[in-house]
Amino acid sequence: SAAEKGGWSSFMAKEISEEPDAVANTIRGRVTDGLVHIPELDGLGDDVLRSIDRVLIIACGTAAYAGMVGKYAIEQWARVPVDVELAHEFRYREPVLSPNTLVVSISQSGETMDTLMAVKYAREQGARTLSICNTQGATIPRESDAVVYTHAGPEVAVASTKAFVAQITACYLFGLQLAQVRETLAADAVRALVADLQKVPDQLRDVIASGERIAELAHWMADTRSVLFLGRHVGYPIALEGALKLKELAYIHAEGFAAGELKHGPIALIEPGQIVFVIVPSPRDERSLHAKVVSNIQEIRARGARVIAIAEAGDVAVLPHADEVIRIPLASPFFEPLLAVVPLHFFGMELAAAKGLDVDQPRNLAKSVTVE
Ligand code: G6P
Repeated sequence: SAAEKGGWSSFMAKEISEEPDAVANTIRGRVTDGLVHIPELDGLGDDVLRSIDRVLIIACGTAAYAGMVGKYAIEQWARVPVDVELAHEFRYREPVLSPNTLVVSISQSGETMDTLMAVKYAREQGARTLSICNTQGATIPRESDAVVYTHAGPEVAVASTKAFVAQITACYLFGLQLAQVRETLAADAVRALVADLQKVPDQLRDVIASGERIAELAHWMADTRSVLFLGRHVGYPIALEGALKLKELAYIHAEGFAAGELKHGPIALIEPGQIVFVIVPSPRDERSLHAKVVSNIQEIRARGARVIAIAEAGDVAVLPHADEVIRIPLASPFFEPLLAVVPLHFFGMELAAAKGLDVDQPRNLAKSVTVE
């Protein structure tokens, strides 16, 4: 009903507006003295966190993209190998697991059948299981050794938005706690990252306040038949998420690519007028990925692409190369996905609205896929 939407045009609009709170509420109660302590992990025990030699993240849909962001962060900080796999692929290939494998499932509903069956399989194989879940008391957390709840609040729109940023936040917190326990990051380094993470909710409020420009762009593009998304490092899963949202909501062909893969195929798709969103890494990133992505932009621009860059405030180097620049506030490079994804959530929603579609209930999709 209109009352449930709290004055918003759709549940999705309301839920995007709640993305800052979803991040803030997921952090709340899990930082002590500037360091991460997730009380729910006490049951698992520090010995287990120290002894695991592998983390395997399993999920479906948007939750799997959150897991991909988590992989970059957890592996970098805690120096433990992390893989991400779609639950339905995982469960049918007899994966090799051991008691030192920690299987982390990510699920908004906690009821996705493939993810649940993957967790059960992992337990049978003797692996430890941790659930990152948004729904209290759902089946997947009940089947897991431990659960870290995301506190995004109930999500109604079929396409996941606020749960996604909360899932990424939970992965960051888990990665930081793992790094503390395994002593792979110094306490000061953890404190600096935690302080930056705590700034993200306010930064997200700024991003949301500038959503009008996105709405304009989306309305101009209502007739577009194909949109590409490029990203690199933690921006890569965000490119995949941006593309998924357009498919789900606006029924437009969209694909996300790793920017480094451009010359291995996707660049052949570029013809004059092709719209390409590019998530530009921070110029402050130590890996100097910024220059590489700017050069990707030049390559596609030379072939007629219309480039919409999502770039950090103060990044002037990108300006001469993009047709449009959407600004996000300065954050630690690892936390940029939280800021960069919000304009893409807006874009998917606005383009669907411009086409007169039901953004909360896209055709053929269910909020929770509890069958195979
Ligand atoms: C469905 C929903 C998606 C969601 C996916 C995984 O496909 O439409 O929005 O990302 O399921 O759901 P889960 O509840 O496991 O996160």
